[in-house]
Amino acid sequence: MNRQPSAPDPSVVPFVVPCADRVTNLPPYVFATLFRMRDDALAAGREVFDLSVGNPDVRPAASVVGAITEAMNDETWNCHRYGTFNGLPRFREAIALWYYERFGVRLDPHTQALPLIGSKEGLANLMRAYLNPGDGIIIPSPCYPAYFGAAHLCEAEIYELKLREEDGYVPRLEDIPAEVAARSRMLILNYPNNPTGGVCDLAFFEKAVAWCKRHQVMLVSDAAYTELGFDTENPPPSVLQVPGAFDVAVEFQSLSKSHNLAGWRVGFVVGGSEPIANLGRLKSHVDFSLFGGIQMAAVNALRYGARTVKENRETYLGRRNQMVAGFRKLGWQVPSPAATLYIWARIPRAWGDDDFGFVRDVFAKTGVLVSPGSGFGVHGRGYARVSLVAPSATITRIMELLEGAGFDWS
Ligand SMILES: Cc1ncc(COP(=O)(O)O)c(C=O)c1O
Repeated sequence: MNRQPSAPDPSVVPFVVPCADRVTNLPPYVFATLFRMRDDALAAGREVFDLSVGNPDVRPAASVVGAITEAMNDETWNCHRYGTFNGLPRFREAIALWYYERFGVRLDPHTQALPLIGSKEGLANLMRAYLNPGDGIIIPSPCYPAYFGAAHLCEAEIYELKLREEDGYVPRLEDIPAEVAARSRMLILNYPNNPTGGVCDLAFFEKAVAWCKRHQVMLVSDAAYTELGFDTENPPPSVLQVPGAFDVAVEFQSLSKSHNLAGWRVGFVVGGSEPIANLGRLKSHVDFSLFGGIQMAAVNALRYGARTVKENRETYLGRRNQMVAGFRKLGWQVPSPAATLYIWARIPRAWGDDDFGFVRDVFAKTGVLVSPGSGFGVHGRGYARVSLVAPSATITRIMELLEGAGFDWS
């Protein structure tokens, strides 16, 4: 991860008042850089295949769209006004019911669940609620890049906990140095994992809960992909299934990928009532919760969305198989992930560790845009992530273009 201050943005017109250091010194967000490459190419009239962000191309269920429309036209409830800070009780009740049915975890909907304007918002605000400048935060590496910027805005000390391919991308907690454990207030875990597709079992969560209790560190489980595990006999667990987890853990969920609602911005956090209350308190000063119509659509998604989730899982499994087979045919020996909508692989030898160079070269020759591993943390260097966000016919075309590029993929 590049921790140098960002280069000046040429599109920014100088202003008389300088920006706060915490923003000036923000590392560049990898996807903003990629989007600029993509948009410049589109403006130049090039054909682009954007497999960089995990941005679902499938549409939400008709009933979810129907639910927001119904809410907007409801004469008995004016959802266009400001809502309540902690979200609609109906949404919190639907969250509690879904958690019980999916994980067997009982939640008090009034104190242990909080709707969020996407889990990205909630993760960043939880850090603001719990990290003082100089406090430590342990972030897996590679990881969802938004963790870095959010921690940076809190002026927290980041420790990147290495995820190794040979361990299935589950960290060795014993790798964490004693002084890091002592200064840290938060450990983030994300299973199923973005970008690696790694999964963990309940036994690992048990170890992690015990470690966090021993070191008095909050366990933040980012569970955005629990519904996209391909082994349906062993669906990914929730950390809250661990007895006593509520004393030390919170868990974030997102409807972005499971229900194709990425642009709507809807997620939630569940777990210990104290951190939920503190996050709610902070948020009451910075936002006004989600639009009521979106919350009613989310209620519909949680109650009746099992079919959408199943179809999504099957779609991503089919695409995974097609892409893995296509890459291997080219000579790029990518692993086959057990979950998520990503393929994570070491880049072909010809590029060494230069993942940005690999991304640039592939994009320049083919218009296919993937993500460079070093954007996901120092331990992502030399890797690339490919998102499964194109339909089968497009994947076929992408493979033809990649083959035609004439690279050595081995
Ligand atoms: C691991 C992980 N957490 C959180 C998010 C953010 O999801 P949301 O759309 O709910 O903000 C993402 C999005 O890609 C993600 O990959």
